[in-house]
This record gives sequence, C-alpha cells and structure tokens, in this order.
Amino acid sequence: MGDRLLEGAHAGQFPGLAQSVHGAPLAYLDNAATTHMPQAVLDAMQAYETANRANIHRGVHTLSQRSTEAFDRARDTLKRFVGAGDAHELVFTSGTTEALNLVAHGLSDSGIGPAVLQPGDEIVTTALEHHANLVPWQAAARRSGAKLHVLRPDSQGQLHVDDLARLLGPRTRVFAVTACANATGERPPFETLLSLAAEAGALTVLDAAQAVSHEVPALSQLECDFMAFSGHKMYGPMGTGALVGRRAALERLAPLRLGGDMVEWVNEQDATFAELPARLEGGTPNVGGAVGMAAAADWIDSIGREAIDSHVRALRAHAVSLLSALKGLRVLSPGADHSAIVSFVAEDAHPHDLGTLLDRRGIAVRTGHHCAQPLLECLGIGPTTRASFAIYNTHEEVERLADAVAHALEVLR
Ligand code: ALA
Repeated sequence: MGDRLLEGAHAGQFPGLAQSVHGAPLAYLDNAATTHMPQAVLDAMQAYETANRANIHRGVHTLSQRSTEAFDRARDTLKRFVGAGDAHELVFTSGTTEALNLVAHGLSDSGIGPAVLQPGDEIVTTALEHHANLVPWQAAARRSGAKLHVLRPDSQGQLHVDDLARLLGPRTRVFAVTACANATGERPPFETLLSLAAEAGALTVLDAAQAVSHEVPALSQLECDFMAFSGHKMYGPMGTGALVGRRAALERLAPLRLGGDMVEWVNEQDATFAELPARLEGGTPNVGGAVGMAAAADWIDSIGREAIDSHVRALRAHAVSLLSALKGLRVLSPGADHSAIVSFVAEDAHPHDLGTLLDRRGIAVRTGHHCAQPLLECLGIGPTTRASFAIYNTHEEVERLADAVAHALEVLR
C-alpha cells in the first residue's frame, strides 16, 4: 500500500484519539458519524472564545465588531472551500439536517408568501438518502400538496440515470440526492443526476455530508441549487453546518427561523425581511462553531483533499478485501469508489453484538440502520455494521478491524 507512508503523519494532531478503550488503543472508525478535531481547530475556537466572544451585528463595541468580522471571514473561507462562485451564498446552520430542513420547509411554507411548491407539483428524492434528505420532503409534500417520488437503486444499491429520466416530468420542481450514501458508502453519479434534473427544470439539492471531508464537490461546476454539509464530519465542531447554493434559489426559501437579526423592519402586525444570508439565519449564530468549521476547512486544504481522498479510499479498499474474505459476511456496495465507508452484514451475528465485541477491543464502529431505513429495506437487509475512515486512520487499524470481526463471528456463531 503506497499510502502507508501517510500513516501516523496526522494522528498526533488529534488529542481525542490518543486514548485507550478497554485497555486497547482506540481505533476510531466512526468518522461518517463524527470525525475528531485537530489541535489547529481546537486552538482557533479557543482563540475566538477567549479574545473575541460577543454577539454579532447588534453591537458597536469592539468585541462585537471583531466577532462579526470572524463570522464573515468564516463564511468566506467555507465558500472558497466548496468552490462557490459570485452567484452563490452560504448560510450557517446547525448541521446538514437543519440545512435540508431549511430547503424543504422553505420551498413548501406559505407563512410569509406563496410557497414555491404547489398542489400537483412533484418532488423526487432517492432511496439512498439519510432520513434528513427524505423525511423533510415527506413533510414538504404533505404541506404543499405535492407528490413525492423516490428513485430506487438496483439490487446492488446503485442508482441509474435512466431510472431518474423516467421519473422526471413537467411538474418536477425538486430533485434531492446524496453525494455518498451514509449507510452503504455507495457513491451515486450525482453530477449527471443533478444535470438531468436541472435540464428538466427542477431545483437541485445535494447532501454532501459524507463527501465534504475528502471529495468536496466544486459547487460552481455542478448543476446544484442547494448543497448541505456538516462541520462535525469534516474535522470541525459538532452542531455546525452550512447550506450553500445559488443566491437566486436561496432567495426563494421562506425562512425557517423568524426573529432577531433576520428582519429589516417590524411593526406590531407585519415585518419585512433582511437580505441573504441574514434572512435565513434568525437568532444568535454559533460564531465559535463557524470559526472552528472554517479552521477545519483550512486544515483540510493544508493536507490536500486529494491526499485525504486517496488515503481513505485505500483504507476502504483494504477493508473490503479483508472483510469480503470472511465466511458468511457480505460487504455492501463493494465496488463503491470515492467512498470512506464500508458497511456489512454477517450471517448469524447481530450488528449490535458485533459492535459491542469490537468495542471491547478498542474499535469504534457504528451499528444499526444509520438513519437510512428505506435503503436497507430496498436491499432486503436489516441493520448493518459500518466502519468509516478519516485521514488519521491506518492500515493497521483496518487489519485490527478484520481480525476483531473474524474473532467476534467465531464467538457469536
Ligand atoms: N448521519 C450520521 C451517520 O451516518 C449520524 O452516522
């Protein structure tokens, strides 16, 4: 493995990883849920909190001004990070879930004006989605009277462009898809799917949560109106995220949070609303979180996304090869390229038991439905065990994972 040279080069920067669990060195393989943060991110957040902490916009005092500047700088950094252009804007959220809710609610809510989605319109999402890119669309369909269609994968969990072409129609207003399925690691051809939907006149939505730490889509090159991602899956703080998209599309969203800092003028009976991005950021924002998220983007850029991408892909390929060799074990989406996630099911072994036995050896994996029940139903399986990789993981940890799974299967069978 050529990329073994990378190993250990970055792990020392992550204080949270330098610990033992049940007497074994921690092998943290739950990065699709939350990555750890490097010292550079922790330092940036501490510097903000100790030197500049204050509420933004509403103060003339020095700390408020510094805090506002820090927030604006974080926004600019993240826009650059995802390849946003002049026609794009970025709105801070608490994570991908809030960002996707902001879009689905914003297109279907008629609280402050006519909703974009009207009765008889159509929304298309896919069965590969995390619940955060499905359930808000179910609610949007109910709220607006639109119809929800779900693009299903084949028996191997892959989406096909021809199948989407058959679902799109003159009333399709929205198409929402993931850049990488969190439950299986499948990486759909989202670039082509988004283009096809845009050609059909739909607004396009990309859930980039599982891609952004290593395969950041260059937004300006995508037919994408809205893209959502989280800070805590890209070496940044929890409770942070962003919705970035075409300004003209973001302007069509009804705000989700009404209140402070998002209005222009208010009287007892009515209000007018501020320009983007403030319009969609009602209330006091998580400024320290935004600073940490931007520091994480800078940290990723300092390592190089290509280097991170090739390392996590090599770890995944290694894991697929070792795990597939185990009797009675099925790896999902074994050929998925560009993915940092390996998910599997094993005969006669419940994932929760498997995960518990792995934890006894210091190996952290996630088990269950991964908030993607319709996908696992489509594939005819139940809960899975999922390992997911980041820049600090090593091939030795992959070998420990495979050995521990083999041992656990012997115990459980
Ligand atoms: N969405 C996160 C995951 O896939 C929590 O684990």
